[in-house]
Amino acid sequence: MRAQPTVVLPARQGEHRYEIHVGAGALRPLAGLARAHDRVAVVTCARVARTPVARRALAALRKTGRVAVLVMLPDGEKGKTLAQLERAAGKLLAEGLTRRSLVVSIGGGAVSDAAGFLAATFMRGLPWVAVPTTLLAMVDAALGGKTAVNLPRAKNAVGAFHPPSAVLADPRALDTLPERELRSGLGEVVKYALLEPALLGRVSASGAGRPSDELVAACMAAKLRVVEADPTERGQRALLNLGHTFGHGVEAAGRFSRYTHGESVALGLVFAFRLAAQLGRVGPLAVAEAEAAVAGAGLPTRLPPAQARRAAALMVHDKKRTASGLRWVLPRQVDGAGWTVEWGVEAGPLAVAAAVAELGS
Ligand SMILES: NC(=O)c1ccc[n+]([C@@H]2O[C@H](COP(=O)([O-])OP(=O)(O)OC[C@H]3O[C@@H](n4cnc5c(N)ncnc54)[C@H](O)[C@@H]3O)[C@@H](O)[C@H]2O)c1
Ligand SMILES: [Zn+2]
Repeated sequence: MRAQPTVVLPARQGEHRYEIHVGAGALRPLAGLARAHDRVAVVTCARVARTPVARRALAALRKTGRVAVLVMLPDGEKGKTLAQLERAAGKLLAEGLTRRSLVVSIGGGAVSDAAGFLAATFMRGLPWVAVPTTLLAMVDAALGGKTAVNLPRAKNAVGAFHPPSAVLADPRALDTLPERELRSGLGEVVKYALLEPALLGRVSASGAGRPSDELVAACMAAKLRVVEADPTERGQRALLNLGHTFGHGVEAAGRFSRYTHGESVALGLVFAFRLAAQLGRVGPLAVAEAEAAVAGAGLPTRLPPAQARRAAALMVHDKKRTASGLRWVLPRQVDGAGWTVEWGVEAGPLAVAAAVAELGS
């Protein structure tokens, strides 16, 4: 058999170290990780469990004889509830899982958030391994150790920092992903390219298609660098919210169904560059580059004016808001054409209104 190419990225969060495997051979360590534990609980959802990558992961785990529980969560956000957590924890208890056991999450960000939180809280914490199956989970949700479930009125309101023991990402999983979900992940891919303009060329060349294994790994590495520098989100990690303040407003304005998270972030990225231009922080070239990257990924750069105004009104509910008002993550021009991104930037209401008007057309 030909060796399957895999990139291995080392990750560090405080004292905790783990490996991230990306590529066709990424699932290879799974059986060994399972064998190092007394029992394994697999957490997934029905739609994912039917896909070839999930089947391969499950088969490899079953061969070890360690799988004691298979928790099937309802799809998407419906699986991220305290009621589902209670149901899952009850199953783990009934099947005799202990602190020496392992949780394996196979799925998108909804599954990894819920499975990670189950691992963080069951018996005060078990190790867990993430097998992300969406682009968003690969480049974002499965990395960094933030785990959570929702309350009926607030997303991610109950959660914990609990980094995984390994992240095993085979981008072939993306072959079965609905196109709109792929594009949603591309919103975060473009975000990394705007955070690290050295990635822009590769992101533009990749366009709206499935990114290469190398590009997925490069985005993961970009997130890991920020998380490593700020494991518990006290400062620099705010950079990962580039595009998310206005983006959250867009998601809320569309009642969380009109725009996906990635589409909202895409609009938020354009907004951030336009606001930065209003503040004299960047010139029109940077704005044009950001817009071209967003559009090239098949993501929107404009929204109807009424939606833009509604998004602006709703973004003040952003949970990252400080007592003294909204703080922005915005680019600032350095030498000639490049830019760097800074957090904690203030912006006056006139500049914000002007950027809102530019987006809504
Ligand atoms: N913890 C973090 O740091 C973090 C960061 C970003 C997002 N999130 C969370 O991630 C969640 C969103 O994640 P998502 O975008 O992956 O959505 P998701 O997990 O809801 O998955 C989207 C859809 O794709 C399906 N799916 C998943 N993999 C598939 C595959 N390979 N083939 C076919 N269908 C597949 C799922 O069943 C679901 O219907 C949100 O709950 C968000 O809060 C967490
Ligand atoms: Zn996001």
